[in-house]
Amino acid sequence: MTSEPDAQPTAETDATDAVTSPADDAPDAATDLPGGPARRRGPLRAGERVQLTDTKGRLHTILLTTDGYFQSQRGSFRHTELIGKPEGTVLTTATGHQLLALRPLLSDYVLSMPRGAAVVYPKDAGQIVQMGDIYPGARVVEAGVGSGALSMSLLSAIGERGRLLSVERREDFAEIAVGNVESWFGGTHPAWDVRVGDLADVLPGAVEPGTVDRMVLDMLAPWENLEVAADALVPGGVLVAYVATATQLSRFAEDVRATECFTEPHAWESMVRTWHLEGLSVRPDHRMIAHTGFLVTTRRLAPGNTPPQRTRRPAKGAYPADGDWSPEDVGERVISDKKVRRVRRDIARRAEIEESGMASRPGSRPSGTGAPVTPSSSGPSAPPDVPTGGAGAPVAPSPANAPTAVTPASPDVAGP
Ligand SMILES: C[S@@+](CC[C@H](N)C(=O)[O-])C[C@H]1O[C@@H](n2cnc3c(N)ncnc32)[C@H](O)[C@@H]1O
Repeated sequence: MTSEPDAQPTAETDATDAVTSPADDAPDAATDLPGGPARRRGPLRAGERVQLTDTKGRLHTILLTTDGYFQSQRGSFRHTELIGKPEGTVLTTATGHQLLALRPLLSDYVLSMPRGAAVVYPKDAGQIVQMGDIYPGARVVEAGVGSGALSMSLLSAIGERGRLLSVERREDFAEIAVGNVESWFGGTHPAWDVRVGDLADVLPGAVEPGTVDRMVLDMLAPWENLEVAADALVPGGVLVAYVATATQLSRFAEDVRATECFTEPHAWESMVRTWHLEGLSVRPDHRMIAHTGFLVTTRRLAPGNTPPQRTRRPAKGAYPADGDWSPEDVGERVISDKKVRRVRRDIARRAEIEESGMASRPGSRPSGTGAPVTPSSSGPSAPPDVPTGGAGAPVAPSPANAPTAVTPASPDVAGP
C-alpha cells in the first residue's frame, strides 16, 4: 500500500507557492453545494462510495465503513486501510494484488447504480444538457424519471437555484430514482420535486402556463404530451424527446408539426467509439454500444404564431396521398404472392432432396454430372402442408421432413 502524504492544502501553505485565484481568498462558498466539493474532494471518508479497479480492469463499488472488510478473488483489506487516504491510492492486498481506489464519477455511478427502468446513458445525458440548453437557475420538467439517471445531470446543470419537476407514472420507479439521486447528492436536492402520476395529469396542476424553460421527455409515447408541453413552456422554451426507435422518432416529429406550436424538429443520434491505445496499436475498439436512442429537439413558438411556411417541399412520396400510412409507406418490403409460392416450392424441393439424398426425382430426367444440388424453382407446387417459415408462422417440420432439423433457408432460396 502506498503511504504518500495527503496533498490537500493546509492553513500553513505559503500563499505565494500556491496556485490561487481571487475566489480562493474567500471562504469556499461551493463546499456545501449538493453533490459539490465537500463530497468530491479531500481524503476518503467513512460513509463514502469508492470504486476499486483491479489489474484486469474489473470494477467493484464499495461503501467505506469503519468496520468494513473488502473481499474478492483479488484479495482482501479492511476499509480502514483506505479511510483518510487520498483518491487515487493504489492499495496492495495481502495476496499481492493491486487495487486502485477512486471516487466514482457521475458517469460511473449512473452505470453501476440499481435500475428500475433503462437509464439515459451518460453520452446522451451530455447531449441533452448541451443541446437542450439546460442552464443554471432554469425551470425544467422531465418525465419519466425511471431510475433517476437523467435527473442527476439535469440537477447538476440547473444547480440549487433552479427547479426540476420530475414526473413518473410508476411509484416503485420513482422510489428507486429518489434513492439513487439522494445517494449521489448526499441527501435531498433543494431544486428537486418528484411527483408520481401521468405527466398529462400532473403538469397542468404543478406549473403555471408559460413558465417552464426546458422540458425533457423520455418515455414510450412522448407525442401524447405535446399539448401539455405547449401550455407549460415559455416562448422559445426547448422541448427534448429521447426515443428508442425510428418509428417513435417519426411519430413524434409529425405530431410536433401538426400542433403548429413548435419550430421544425431537429433529430440526431450520437455514437461513441472508444479506442484501444497501446504503443503502435492505436485503433478503435472492436465493440461499441451502437444504439441507445434518438434525440429530437424543438422550440415553443410565441402563442398565436404558427411555424413559418417551409420553402423546401417534402420529398415526393414522403407523405401518403390519402393520409393513411400503409406498410409500404413506412418502407416495409411487400413480397408478391408469386414470390411466396416460389419460396414454398423451393423449400418443398429442398426437403425432398434432404430426405432422398438425390437431386433428381425418380422417373425424371437425371441432371448432368456435377449439377449443383440447389432447389429447382420450376418444380411442381409444394403440398399444402409445407411450412413457409414466414413471419409468425410456426416452423414445424411437416411429416415429409420430420427427421430433418429445420435450418435457415439458403440465401438463394429466401434472399431478397
Ligand atoms: C426509459 S424510462 C426513463 C429513464 C430515465 N430518464 C433515467 O435516465 O433513468 C421511461 C419512464 O417513463 C415512465 N413513463 C412513461 N410514460 C409516462 C407518462 N405519461 N408520465 C409519466 N411517466 C411516464 C415509465 O414508467 C418509465 O419509468
